[in-house]
Amino acid sequence: MCGIFAYLGDKKTAGKLVVEGLKKLEYRGYDSFGIAEKLPNKFQIIKKVGKISDFDPNKAKLASTNLAIGHTRWATHGGVTKLNAHPHLSSNGKIAVVHNGIVENHDALRKALQKKGVKFISQTDTEVIPNLIAAELEKNDFPTAVRKAAKKIKGRYSFVALKHDEETLVAARNGSPLIVGVEKFYPKNDGERHGKADGSAFFIASDVPAFLAYTSDVSYLDDEQMVVITRSPLGDHFHGRFFNLNTGEAVPKRIVSIELAAGKAEKGSFEHFMLKEIFEQKETIAKALNQDEKQLKLVAQMIKKAYGSFFIGCGTAGKVCAAAEYLFASIAKKHINVIFGSEFDTQEAFLTPKTLLVAVSQSGETADVLEAYKIAKKKKVKTVGVVNVAGSSIARSSDVILPVNAGVEKAVASTKATTAQLAILTLLAYTVAGKLEEGKRVLAEAASQINDFLNPRYSAHLKTIAEKIKNVESMYVIGKGADFPMALEAAIKLQEVSYIHAEGFAAGELKHGPLALIEKNTPLIAFVPAERFRHDVLSNVAEVKARGGMIIGVSPKNDALFDEWIRVPNVDTAQPIVNIIPIQLLAYHLAVLRKNNPDLPRNLAKSVTVK
Ligand code: AGP
Repeated sequence: MCGIFAYLGDKKTAGKLVVEGLKKLEYRGYDSFGIAEKLPNKFQIIKKVGKISDFDPNKAKLASTNLAIGHTRWATHGGVTKLNAHPHLSSNGKIAVVHNGIVENHDALRKALQKKGVKFISQTDTEVIPNLIAAELEKNDFPTAVRKAAKKIKGRYSFVALKHDEETLVAARNGSPLIVGVEKFYPKNDGERHGKADGSAFFIASDVPAFLAYTSDVSYLDDEQMVVITRSPLGDHFHGRFFNLNTGEAVPKRIVSIELAAGKAEKGSFEHFMLKEIFEQKETIAKALNQDEKQLKLVAQMIKKAYGSFFIGCGTAGKVCAAAEYLFASIAKKHINVIFGSEFDTQEAFLTPKTLLVAVSQSGETADVLEAYKIAKKKKVKTVGVVNVAGSSIARSSDVILPVNAGVEKAVASTKATTAQLAILTLLAYTVAGKLEEGKRVLAEAASQINDFLNPRYSAHLKTIAEKIKNVESMYVIGKGADFPMALEAAIKLQEVSYIHAEGFAAGELKHGPLALIEKNTPLIAFVPAERFRHDVLSNVAEVKARGGMIIGVSPKNDALFDEWIRVPNVDTAQPIVNIIPIQLLAYHLAVLRKNNPDLPRNLAKSVTVK
């Protein structure tokens, strides 16, 4: 959450580069944005409330400068106002900072600074950072002042700082992601050994795609590290040096070339990323199955040997884990523990070096999962990451990685990553059962069925249903077995983009309370299996129908109880994967019909890097 972008290099269009980079980070936060361009001895600051995508840099009076920083915000402390937008300046105007994360002790720091005469103008926690740096500058050079200021901050953060009279960019990380891109990297200088890199320009961003148009040579800033970028003594290029934030010692750093194709993150002919990503599921399931079998078998062994495996994830990824609990039970006859990332700390008493942690995350940057990793490391628990973003913090901290291979997912609502994660966990369950080949067959068949049914006509059918229910106040989703977590996931999808109140239940639970919510025409989406449990779920559907509910059946077979039938193929244990796809489409069409932007839902952000 919150996107950071910074540039120092040989081009004089730093402001424009920062705006363009921020537009690629908009999914991280989109309530307001701002940039700081470094001019001789001062900054030019531009801040606005609203989306960076609506901002035309050609119409703004951007400066001619080679150094600028910018930020697209997802508010944590302080409302959505121009004053609270980043960058924030120290009260003496010498330091500008953009920040992602939370300064947990901002109150105490603010009071201490106020006693020294510092005047605060925003309600943000961030504003203490430039002021802490400015205070440290009295006795230290700029990078040391940043380092000493960073040591005073409690919480997860990353930030980038500028000084009004120096051609220097300093960034620090402790918890939230920051990646350094080096344009025209000069490898002869052997950055790995000397903790140093040289290039014609440096980018710093919260995510790689933001600068991928310029360079794919990157260095990942790790927790408790900082980078200092300055002009080389010869003056013809720039140096990036990496340091330990605690000791100030230089740290070895590798520059790696990454393979992400910049073009893949574009919308193409689709109106929205969400729709494009839903349709990409024609290919992504097959790609997810393309796992290194040795790794898969290794993880299966780890699960078998573990004295308790915990599968963790947040939001949608948490629902994928919950579906895995059913899949492992039915396919592998194996119990796994499932818990949301934010709840994992409650399980500390059960963790031993024999425990296994399997983390599922699209972004690989979710703070609640990273916090769980901290506990796991402390308890010597082995970790497996099922992660979509290669090189992300979770990917780099895991003992073993099963890559999701879904490609860049830009829409805030997860779709193709969800089904790819489900496919991998299903395959893993088969591997634990010693039936890898059978698993591959079942999932390959599902992938080919998806390729078949996911077409514009199918989408148009979902749009017709969306038209009928677009004005309802509430809707409910039910399922049994692995379809129960899919009902929860369906509800998340509907909530986050349509803003209609939606809730998921285990089918048999309705009659224990939620049935009281059903009124005439309340939509009920039911995942109705073709065979086993069909009868049970249909009984629950009948109970709703008898009370006037409008039944939308998602099933391989039609039934007289359905007011609307959404046909899905009958694909055995891969059923949760095919069941969720039409609901993703339904949620998408509802969002568009209700004039919501499905790619950037209100109040949310793609990557949740705060606790
Ligand atoms: C998905 O539609 C949601 N936007 C959200 O629940 C998401 O799945 C969750 O924040 C976890 O993200 P991650 O997969 O990147 O860890």
